[in-house]
Amino acid sequence: MIKALRGMKDFLGDEAQKYAYCVDVCKQLAQNYGFSFCETPLLEETALFKRSVGESSDIVGKEMYQFEDKGGNDVCLRPEGTAGTVRAFLEAKLDRGLANHRFFYYGSMYRYERPQRGRLRQFHQFGVESFGLDDIKEDVNIILLAKSILDFFGIKATLKLNSIGCQSCMPPYKQNLVKFLESTDGLCEDCQRRKNTNPIRVLDCKNEACHELLRPAPRLLNNLCKDCKNDFEELKKLLDKSSIKYEIDTNLVRGLDYYSKTAFEFVSDELGAQGTIIGGGRYDKLVEYLGGKATPAIGFAMGFERLMELVSMPETKRSGYYFGSLGKGAYEVLLGKANKLRLSEKVHLDYQDRSLKAHLKQADKKNALYCVCVGENELASQTLWLKNLETKEEKILRLDEL
Ligand code: HAM
Repeated sequence: MIKALRGMKDFLGDEAQKYAYCVDVCKQLAQNYGFSFCETPLLEETALFKRSVGESSDIVGKEMYQFEDKGGNDVCLRPEGTAGTVRAFLEAKLDRGLANHRFFYYGSMYRYERPQRGRLRQFHQFGVESFGLDDIKEDVNIILLAKSILDFFGIKATLKLNSIGCQSCMPPYKQNLVKFLESTDGLCEDCQRRKNTNPIRVLDCKNEACHELLRPAPRLLNNLCKDCKNDFEELKKLLDKSSIKYEIDTNLVRGLDYYSKTAFEFVSDELGAQGTIIGGGRYDKLVEYLGGKATPAIGFAMGFERLMELVSMPETKRSGYYFGSLGKGAYEVLLGKANKLRLSEKVHLDYQDRSLKAHLKQADKKNALYCVCVGENELASQTLWLKNLETKEEKILRLDEL
């Protein structure tokens, strides 16, 4: 039997319902916060991710589903949604106007990682991207939206916050850090490699021994330029005013190269090793870097599979109709009625002749609010029998009354 590929899974039944429910909630909340829907292709030119996510990142270095298409183009399945959204933003020339734009998107992303709990090769993200606002209040808006989504589902997660500086404070900090790393023996192989390719990712190493060795490493937060420092202080102040709790994590550097200034994650301790549900931050230079006019931007993405582990479905209320026929000729009448009603209501039209008792049982199983049956008597009198399964009230209606 052919099975789904390793690290890829189906959403069926309850799982599919939960996914649809989570998507609906996120969409609604994002719209409430002023974001509008966008959708970009699953396949993009590989160069887009190399330039944005960065050649030194694990995603581009090791995890992309990259191949040559039949036209000889170097393409890859999107590992994340920000790069594609920026490309779409640029292609639509939205960088040329003065307006700001806020988008949300959702869908599958692809990373060839080692599958484990909360880490898949095909996973689903809900993401938001905001373009054009160089204002720390937009950082607050974005963080509040992320928190609202988690709050809606009753999920407790810690907001971790850091600033990873800008083009004026990051390069001298990097030099300092590299000096420190070069004088430190015993770092793991990954850190040795990152020391040369992307030194700040060393701070993010999960290895316990490296943690200890990195304790005295210089901290970027202590080396921010005046501008970045002011922004970070302002962000903390505004979050405090909104009673949003956070932890400063000076090691939070994120795994993608496009970030500057604000970086944040929401982390749950109920998810095992892959506890980050939401990750995001500012990427003020990316639009320009990909060929557009300088446009500040900020966003986040949330992993649906991780979210869904923590979401319980609300009890579904009875809704719609169940139609059952009792004898010859009834089905045709019910079909005509169902077709009309289905323009506005959910109607389960049962195809089998069953007893009234059996139909009521089926209607209950389908969680219908009304059970409607037609038998010989109803056919003769052009009526319908209807029962409200919540109030248990029964009625005979004329066919045109329903
Ligand atoms: P990211 O941190 O790479 O950021 O991913 C965001 C979220 O996607 C993670 O926090 C996690 O919940 C989920 N995720 C990532 N990889 C996997 C995986 N292999 N399996 C399951 N879930 C996963 C980004 O993707 C950025 N584009 C976020 C962003 C948007 N920054 C600014 N705008």
